[in-house]
Parts: sequence; structure tokens; C-alpha cells
Amino acid sequence: MDHFKNPRNMGEMKDADAIGENGNPVCGDLMYIYIKVEEKDGKEIISDLSFQTFGCAAAIATSSMITELARNKTLEEALKITRSDVAVSLDGLPPIKMHCSNLAADALQDAIKKYREK
Ligand code: FES
Repeated sequence: MDHFKNPRNMGEMKDADAIGENGNPVCGDLMYIYIKVEEKDGKEIISDLSFQTFGCAAAIATSSMITELARNKTLEEALKITRSDVAVSLDGLPPIKMHCSNLAADALQDAIKKYREK
């Protein structure tokens, strides 16, 4: 509820290095994850993230959480963040809302994929 009521890192990032996108065709919710990548000691680190989510409370909370979980991670580490990592970090989601956590993890993976394709 805290990540829904006080979402972290919400908003568009104008100078993002890549934008991940994911939608849920069933409910129509849509999410964008913006990432900024910097090279540090020969590793690519996600130095900043933000999100825009047009969706339910769980989708907003999971977006907020993933921007916290992936910050200062290498691209490889961030790719390992799973849907269940997001749900566990939020102290769980109601079973009917578990599918909402898919959006955030998949949108982050899409952002990393697009960054690597650039
Ligand atoms: Fe659509 Fe939660 S109901 S993502």
C-alpha cells in the first residue's frame, strides 16, 4: 500500500537510455520503465530508473518497487529480478493480483533488451 500511495520514481525520464514497455491484454494495463545506464569499472550499471503505469494499484506498487530493486544493479543482476522477487519485496500480493507483478519484471527486461539492441 505504501508503494501505491507514495510511489517511488514515478514519471517520464526525458533522457532515458532505453524504455521498456509491457501491457496486459486482459485488463488493458500498460507500463513503461525508463532506464539510465552508466559504465562503472567496466560494468554497465543501471544508475537511474523511473516508470509510468496506467493500471491498477498492484501494477503501480510493483512498478515502484522494481525501480528500487534494480537501482545500481548491473544489467545482468537486474535481468535476474523475477516477478516473485517483486511480489516478495512488497510483502506479498493478494493471489488474484499476482499477475500484476509480471508487468514490472517484464517491462524492466524489455528495457534492458532494447538498451542492448541500441
Ligand atoms: Fe491489470 Fe493489475 S489488473 S496489471
